[in-house]
Amino acid sequence: MNDPVLSRTLAMLAEPGSTYARRFDRTSMLDLSVGEARYPIPQTVRSEIAAVVGDLDTLWYTNPTGDIGLRQAFLRHRFGTETGRLDPAQVLITAGGKEAALLAVRYLLTRDGNTTVLAPQPGWEPYGMWLRAVGATVIGYNPTELAVDAEGLRRMVADAHRRPGLLILNYPHNPTGLDIDQSHMDALMDAATELDLSVVSDEVYRAFANKPSSAAQAPAFDPHRHLVVDSCSKWLAAAGLRVGFLYADADTITAITGLRATYASCTSPLTQAVAHTLLTNPVATAWLDDVRATIAGTRDALAEHLTARGVPVTSAGGLYVWCRQPDQPLPPVSEPAAWLTDGTGFGAPDHVRICPARAGLDPRIAADAVIANLRGQ
Ligand SMILES: Cc1ncc(COP(=O)(O)O)c(C=O)c1O
Repeated sequence: MNDPVLSRTLAMLAEPGSTYARRFDRTSMLDLSVGEARYPIPQTVRSEIAAVVGDLDTLWYTNPTGDIGLRQAFLRHRFGTETGRLDPAQVLITAGGKEAALLAVRYLLTRDGNTTVLAPQPGWEPYGMWLRAVGATVIGYNPTELAVDAEGLRRMVADAHRRPGLLILNYPHNPTGLDIDQSHMDALMDAATELDLSVVSDEVYRAFANKPSSAAQAPAFDPHRHLVVDSCSKWLAAAGLRVGFLYADADTITAITGLRATYASCTSPLTQAVAHTLLTNPVATAWLDDVRATIAGTRDALAEHLTARGVPVTSAGGLYVWCRQPDQPLPPVSEPAAWLTDGTGFGAPDHVRICPARAGLDPRIAADAVIANLRGQ
């Protein structure tokens, strides 16, 4: 039997530069590649987590839609006390944002019966892999241009050979770090609605935006057509926890929960309890506020050092600094090379993505280690 989705995925993993074929074994290099916030959990926060975990008296199968307390906490965090926005039936808890995004994309492709998709390019590698694996037609758009020009969406749809059915948005954006303000998000959602596009808005970096915006806050937002993805991974510095969120209308959540339950019985109650603590406990939230401020400072300082040293920084935001390979040779440095993410997997082979969200990182030393990599040292 041939499963075309698996065969195409295996073929993509064998392509040169495929990020997901990598192994986590380059321990001797400074790792500025993996896109996560790496800050050890302080003892004060660990004690809060230990108290909660120590109180769990069962580890049975739990609600396949996710713990109701965590879903409510997520909604309160997202929408404050906005009435009409706090229905936990509109949230599915998944094993990370990656699973939430995969389910959202594949569900909408099937429900809408349209496999022509507008996706950011450069963009997060899995979108392209999933879409190619199912035989979808991908129309890449420039996320920097679209962020400020909703008309661009109308032009792209008008120019497309086949009418697109799905738009994937990802602001703040991986790999460029690019942000979008709410008025531009509103304009994009207006245009998407007018063009009859379904939307998956992947907002896993939202907490790192200067002024966080969301598709769910747009006046045109329709939770039946527009699905929002979020995750604890980046925002709560807890990527290994594997807790993500999908926000949509209750019928869509019910359908996707059923699909998920065929291969994953529930999300672990243990990790959901830890996520709830990180999201709501004041000791944990104070620590995470500090972590996010540190990340922004380190990232901006690194971008400045790199620019001063002749590295063309295209953009910086969220967890990332996004650089073009320099045209001129860079002067030698004494630091050993850092491990960076090559832009090929994102669809931009002339770029590299740097994730400086590392505890204790000295931006000056990190800049040298980046230059050593770019020089091929
Ligand atoms: C754009 C984007 N979406 C979703 C994810 C998924 O994160 P996770 O599955 O760790 O929650 C990532 C992680 O790199 C990402 O960059």
